Amino acid sequence: MPRKAYRNTTITARGEALKRRDVQSPLDRASPEPLYRQIADRLRAEIEADRLAAGSRLPSIRELARGLGVNLVTVVTAYRELIRAGLASGQVGRGTFVRPPEAPLERREAPRQEILGEGGTRWDPPAIPRSRATMLFKPLDKDVVPLNSGLPAADFFPMAAFRRALEAVLRREGSAALQYQPMEGNGPLREAIAAYLESRGTPVRPEEVLICSGAVTGVHIAARFLAMPGDVLLAENPVYCGFLSAVESLGVKLVGIPVDDEGMRVDVAERLIRQYRPKAIYTIPTYNNPTGVCLSLDRRRALLALSRREGVPIIEEDYANEIGFTGPPPPTLKAMDGAGQIIHVKSFAKLVFPSIRVAAIAAPASMIRGLLCVKEGIDPYASGLNQRVLHELLQQPEFSRHIEDLAGKYRPRYEAMRGALREGAGRHLTWMEPKGGVHVWARLPDGLNSQDLLPEAIGAGVAFTPGHCFVPDRGGEDCLRLSFGNVTPAQIASGVSRLVKVIQRQRARRRRRPLAEPMSASMLL
Ligand SMILES: Cc1ncc(COP(=O)(O)O)c(C=O)c1O
Repeated sequence: MPRKAYRNTTITARGEALKRRDVQSPLDRASPEPLYRQIADRLRAEIEADRLAAGSRLPSIRELARGLGVNLVTVVTAYRELIRAGLASGQVGRGTFVRPPEAPLERREAPRQEILGEGGTRWDPPAIPRSRATMLFKPLDKDVVPLNSGLPAADFFPMAAFRRALEAVLRREGSAALQYQPMEGNGPLREAIAAYLESRGTPVRPEEVLICSGAVTGVHIAARFLAMPGDVLLAENPVYCGFLSAVESLGVKLVGIPVDDEGMRVDVAERLIRQYRPKAIYTIPTYNNPTGVCLSLDRRRALLALSRREGVPIIEEDYANEIGFTGPPPPTLKAMDGAGQIIHVKSFAKLVFPSIRVAAIAAPASMIRGLLCVKEGIDPYASGLNQRVLHELLQQPEFSRHIEDLAGKYRPRYEAMRGALREGAGRHLTWMEPKGGVHVWARLPDGLNSQDLLPEAIGAGVAFTPGHCFVPDRGGEDCLRLSFGNVTPAQIASGVSRLVKVIQRQRARRRRRPLAEPMSASMLL
């Protein structure tokens, strides 16, 4: 992935151009990473670290091509990448410039849209953000390998334990089991979840646990508690699409924090906090969806220190702590929280099954009342029956064994995905090595667009989720998510091989369609 090629002293003042000697540091020609990508990554790293000042002019295409010993098209493609990612802009006849950061966001009225009703009436509800879910649950022919499916494996659901738990609840409580539960959640379940979290190293008190209808609802409640429409939240970029949908529906503005193999770039988060004064940071530190990376212990400490210093609370989501493949993960942020700054949202969708629709919000005592008030408006009553069943499950030794075995059950799929990528896709994709969860985040070569690729891939018998579904605002078009939780190792191998063939075909087509010789950047940008 990105390599640092420039010295930190490259740019010392805002507006100063890149110095020639740094531009000329040699590219790695033996790397599977294409040259244009290496150039774009270098410039991206400089811009994100603020070493290339907003407004400064990038070197001319000719100058950079000559200095690096590459052809003009390579540099043009690199610059296009930066423009597509919103990091640079091209101006006809003038060149390519580092884009100024977005101006501070003011509170503004939500945009409205006009709808013509059946009886001729006109409605003007707020404009609805585009659906991200429709991109994930497209019906596919059964011979298409669904590497787009983020679902857990139905074969791994604890069916016997669930049946026993359901029967025990109904036998013991009869029709009373079907009543509402208190808004904060079923008392014994709050205790059982506190005990479960503690057993996994995150001590919380039962009265600091609220039960909600799934983790996405929990995140929605937490975000609404901390932010108003027009406020800013920071989140890892790429980020779980369910979170994007929840927050976009609130009219909250999201600003992405870049990630690398150690997780969120906390150094960049610090700069973004100063720039945007966000109301919270959202993160999935352990086996992030969609990247599968795990925030390192040092960065966890740095993130907590930053949050405390700047007074910005953190929403930490955990959906897959139990599904790790490289040894135990570092402690949760909640476990390390000495200052009451973490709202921890725990999903049980991968531990039980998605339709359990019961999750937990574990928050500092000072926030519980406020969260409960918000919950009252959004999600007053999670399913009373399922809360009781989850409580019963958490008492069963068989369910504990199921959770302990889960990573082992998913491991062959994880190994199959890594093996298939390593053996067949090394020249066609770059990807982040996942440490847990059920997803891999990969990048296409030559600036190919994952949305354009998808129909051809489905025609060839494989589906994936296009990268833009996981990116706030713009970007991610050259990335995709491959999920391995709900497909067998054999399906994974054939899915990846089909995908590689489609990429090869698109690359070959692109090579046959020669680009006009770019005489100046502005002709192509
Ligand atoms: C990061 C993340 N959060 C939450 C969920 C879903 O959680 P729930 O079903 O509890 O809403 C998923 C499901 O895939 C997920 O990947």
